[in-house]
Amino acid sequence: MAEKQGRVFSGARPTGRQHLGNYLGAIKNYVALQDDYRCVYCIVDVHALTTIETTKDLELNTQEMTLDWMAAGMDPEQSIIFVQSHVQEVMELHTILSMVTPLGKLTALPTFKEKVRDNPDNVNYGLVGYPVLMSADILLYKADTVPVGTDQIPHLEFAREVVRSFNHRYQTNILVEPHAKVTEIPKVLGIDGERKMSKSLNNHIELAATPEETEKRVMEMVTDPQRIRRSDPGDPDVCNVFSLHKVFSPPEEIDQINQDCRKAEIGCVDCKRKLAKNLNKHLVPFRSKRADLEKDPDIVKEVLLDGAKRARVIASKTMKEVREAIGFYGTKV
Ligand code: TRP
Repeated sequence: MAEKQGRVFSGARPTGRQHLGNYLGAIKNYVALQDDYRCVYCIVDVHALTTIETTKDLELNTQEMTLDWMAAGMDPEQSIIFVQSHVQEVMELHTILSMVTPLGKLTALPTFKEKVRDNPDNVNYGLVGYPVLMSADILLYKADTVPVGTDQIPHLEFAREVVRSFNHRYQTNILVEPHAKVTEIPKVLGIDGERKMSKSLNNHIELAATPEETEKRVMEMVTDPQRIRRSDPGDPDVCNVFSLHKVFSPPEEIDQINQDCRKAEIGCVDCKRKLAKNLNKHLVPFRSKRADLEKDPDIVKEVLLDGAKRARVIASKTMKEVREAIGFYGTKV
C-alpha cells in the first residue's frame, strides 16, 4: 500500500443510532478517506455537554454510534476511532488556545448566533468556546484535512486564525492550518421532505432499522407536494423520494422512474416501494456486519479504548511542543 498522505480529523456528537443523513453527509465520506489519509475520527462527547440536558443516554449513544460507524466500514485497524473525553489533552489545548482568541470573533460566528437564538436560556461559557474546543480537536492531531458539512466552514476558518495567532504569539510553527474538505452530497432531507434529516425532528431513517421499519418509514415520505392525484404528472426534481432513488437505485431504474413520474405512469406509492426495496438491499451488508459486531459485548469498549491510547500518543507529543513553545516553567530544553 502506498504511504498515506496527510491527516484527516473529524468529529461528530454522540447522537446514537445513525440515520441516512449521517451516512450520506459524513460516514460514507469518512470511510472513503481511509484509503488515502491517516484518519482520526472522534465522538465529541465534551462538545455534546454544551447543549444536552441530560447525560443519561451518553454511554448508550456512544456505543450505538460506534457500532454504526464500524458496520458502515470505518475501520479501527486503519483509523483511530475514539471518544473525545478520553484524551484529556484536548481540554488543556482548549484553555491555551482560548488565550489567543478574541471573544468578539466567537460571538460573531453564525453557529453561535443560531444557538443563542434557538436556546436563549442556555448560553453557557462552553457554548461560546465551542469553536475553540473544536480547533483544539483538530490541532492536537495536526490534521491538515477536515471533512465537514458547509455549516462548519466558519469553524475551520476560525481554526486557521487560531493557528496563525498561536504561532505568531509564540514565534513557532508547530500548529498546522487545517482545511475543510466539504462533503459534496447535497443536504439530505427528512421524510417530511422539508427539513434536514435529523433525529431530534424525528424525520429520520435509521441505518440499523429492520427492513420492515425501513419500508414503513419510506412509505411515510412526503413526495412532490404539487402532485395530488395519481393521474397528476410529478416533478422528480422537487421530490425527496427521487433524490434518494438517485443515491440508492440502479441507473436504469432511476431513468425509468424519472420518465414515468413525469408522465404519471408510476404513482408515488409504487415509487416508494421501489425505494424501500433498493434501500434495504443496499443496507444488507451493513446490517449483517452490525449483527456480527453486536455478538461481542466488549467490542466497542475495546475499539474505543485502543483508539484513545493511539490518539494520546499523538496528542501528548503535540502538547509537549505547545508547552515548550509557550515556555512554561521547566519545559525549556
Ligand atoms: N462541530 C462539529 C459538528 O457539529 C463537530 C466537531 C467537533 C468537529 N469537533 C470537530 C468536526 C472537529 C470536525 C472536526 O458537526
